[in-house]
Amino acid sequence: MENVLITGANRGLGLELQKVFYSSSFNTFPVVRTEAAAEQLRVQFPLRCYPIVADLTSDDSIERIRMILDNTAHSLDIVINNAGISGTEYLIETVRTEEVNNLFNIHCLGAIRTVQASIPHLRKSNNPRIINVSSRLGSLTRMATGEFKDRGFSYSYRMAKAAQNMFTICLGQELKKDNITVCAIHPGQLLTRGRSTDANTDPASAAENIYKWIREIDINSSGVFVQPLVQNMSW
Ligand SMILES: NC(=O)c1ccc[n+]([C@@H]2O[C@H](COP(=O)([O-])OP(=O)(O)OC[C@H]3O[C@@H](n4cnc5c(N)ncnc54)[C@H](OP(=O)(O)O)[C@@H]3O)[C@@H](O)[C@H]2O)c1
Repeated sequence: MENVLITGANRGLGLELQKVFYSSSFNTFPVVRTEAAAEQLRVQFPLRCYPIVADLTSDDSIERIRMILDNTAHSLDIVINNAGISGTEYLIETVRTEEVNNLFNIHCLGAIRTVQASIPHLRKSNNPRIINVSSRLGSLTRMATGEFKDRGFSYSYRMAKAAQNMFTICLGQELKKDNITVCAIHPGQLLTRGRSTDANTDPASAAENIYKWIREIDINSSGVFVQPLVQNMSW
């Protein structure tokens, strides 16, 4: 039986991913922020679900994740860094450094913390995969063409996702020799709480596509940025 860890798994895309991996008989390790969210998941997914309560903006989360994995999972096959928040300020004169800091903390440092906590277990899998949920708005190439100009997208979100993409590239290059696949994905413009103004995609169908794609990939796919089963993305 395979094991998957999904961050931000109590709502939105993360919950849909939790549902699809659970119904495909995976052992699931959803990372959530509160004990109430963990309890809700235990009720909704009574078997093979081991919630981890951790705030990924804090270094404590590394030990919290590691402890549950040490006690419950021999190996870990898939880590999905999905947890995230959106920003608001899109004009330089109103940008708050606190907002930028908060978004870097979850989208970049949160992903680093999850990987640091789970890497010993990933090394025990035959096909370990780390998937960072990025965004089209993290694409420097697309941003530079002006495609998203004047659309009110925040500095904090675009900067944090671009930095997370750089993390994906660096990590993929470092871990290739260890057979650990590292990829970035754009899930689509989802109809979730963190939605954009042009949201058009049901998160359940996005999760289904992501699941099917993850099942197919191995080290030969490491380093790609894609919208699973839809399109390749430009870095
Ligand atoms: N929605 C879109 O159209 C879209 C497009 C491209 C990329 N994405 C990316 O896809 C991912 C999921 O988006 P979504 O729309 O499903 O978001 P969402 O519905 O707002 O859910 C975000 C999840 O992240 C969790 N989270 C936030 N901060 C956290 C922290 N410090 N520690 C642990 N968990 C934390 C939330 O937990 P709480 O319930 O405790 O707040 C929640 O479970 C994000 O990375 C987002 O940037 C989304």
